[in-house]
Amino acid sequence: MKDNTKWALITGASSGLGAVFARQYAQKGYHLVLTARRRDALQSLADEISSAHGISCHVETADLAQIGAAAQLKSALDQAQITIDVLINNAGMGAHGDFVDCPADKLAGMLQLDIIALTELTHAFGQAMARRGNGQILLVSSILGYQATPRYAAYAASKAYVLSLGEALHEELKASGVTVTVLSPGVTNTEFIAVADQPMPPMLKRLMMEPEPVVKAGIQALDSGRASVVPGWLNWITAQSNRLTPRVMQRRIMARVMSD
Ligand SMILES: NC(=O)c1ccc[n+]([C@@H]2O[C@H](COP(=O)([O-])OP(=O)(O)OC[C@H]3O[C@@H](n4cnc5c(N)ncnc54)[C@H](OP(=O)(O)O)[C@@H]3O)[C@@H](O)[C@H]2O)c1
Repeated sequence: MKDNTKWALITGASSGLGAVFARQYAQKGYHLVLTARRRDALQSLADEISSAHGISCHVETADLAQIGAAAQLKSALDQAQITIDVLINNAGMGAHGDFVDCPADKLAGMLQLDIIALTELTHAFGQAMARRGNGQILLVSSILGYQATPRYAAYAASKAYVLSLGEALHEELKASGVTVTVLSPGVTNTEFIAVADQPMPPMLKRLMMEPEPVVKAGIQALDSGRASVVPGWLNWITAQSNRLTPRVMQRRIMARVMSD
């Protein structure tokens, strides 16, 4: 076992970006807390990376779409006497399609996961970090957070919330020694697209990034104290071009991109 006292908590570690965050933090020598709903996937990842890198991996299953799950996760880690140095708020899901056709309970669960649980975890661990005078928090948003997006209306709005929350907290917590960074990926090759039931037109497929460089960009931005990062230069241009484009054009372009 390595003598390394730093712990990273990664939400949504059972697949996609979260599993890659776990691998990249294990390579950096961090002990890990991995959380998501699928215990088997978390446990096999934990077994693989703890033996490959000689770090401790604590698996804690949680359904963060349930009210109170974030507080339960914090108290489980307090009971296990694990102090979190790095929080990667990554777990999330999207719901593609017509807003009025989406079941209300699916929408509510998505917002509970993407907004409420993320906010509660940031609050609980951010408070502990600010008291200690150090810590790092990464919030995973999306380039969809940069403009209104028909057919991803509530998901894109939830990611606009994450982007705004994270950039505000970056300033607010700076003086306390806590770094907050927002990672806003574009379309990335994970389970997200299938879970969201999103069609993949050839144009979007061409923009698709692999999760490894997305995660690397997020960790680099967090470690260098940046407020926000959009990985991939085409994604970066897309996000920045909104500064020059009227909002009516932004949403009409996105309506075309997201049509079936
Ligand atoms: N992939 C993209 O194109 C893309 C683009 C922009 C932003 N993002 C964002 O990137 C983040 C990671 O997504 P991904 O692309 O890696 O997708 P993914 O492969 O579907 O991973 C999502 C993770 O979140 C976990 N999760 C889902 N619902 C949960 C719940 N109710 N409670 C706890 N954990 C839950 C999943 O684990 P379980 O199913 O085991 O619970 C899984 O580990 C999300 O916040 C997403 O919005 C993705």
